[in-house]
Amino acid sequence: MVCLGNICRSPLAEGILKSKVSPDFCTVDSAGTAGYHIGSPPDKRSIAVAKKNGIDISQQLCRLFTKSDFETFDVIYAMDKSNYANIITQAKNKVESAKVRLLLNEVELGISQVPDPYHGGEIEFENVYNLIDKACSKIAKQMTQSNE
Ligand code: 4NP
Repeated sequence: MVCLGNICRSPLAEGILKSKVSPDFCTVDSAGTAGYHIGSPPDKRSIAVAKKNGIDISQQLCRLFTKSDFETFDVIYAMDKSNYANIITQAKNKVESAKVRLLLNEVELGISQVPDPYHGGEIEFENVYNLIDKACSKIAKQMTQSNE
């Protein structure tokens, strides 16, 4: 799960997907394409909206997306088109670039990007939570079906 800062959207995506799939099925992690907040916990507003929904993301620490993530992970979800472009430029071949997807393309919500809530408030963070939650439910369902 990748966003810009790895403090608002992608930590939520990591926590939400982890809450829906067994670690036996997949390893979920998150990262940012920018290094503003490396080593920091998620934004307080993301921690709060996750907690409200029964998920604890407070122990996560921000890290930068690296080229080695293409080798570690089968799928790399970008929160918005800018993140997508930043990730794609780091791919060394078509196999790696084919791993990158927009998270909201997993669901038909009429919106393809998770909006950046950084300059928003509680309503924006709740909206982000709900969008990511819907996409993660679909991903978890697909993953469970493919493991049946
Ligand atoms: P995120 O949000 O990409 O969802 O983690 C942001 C976090 C920090 C900044 C921008 C967006 N920033 O400019 O510091």
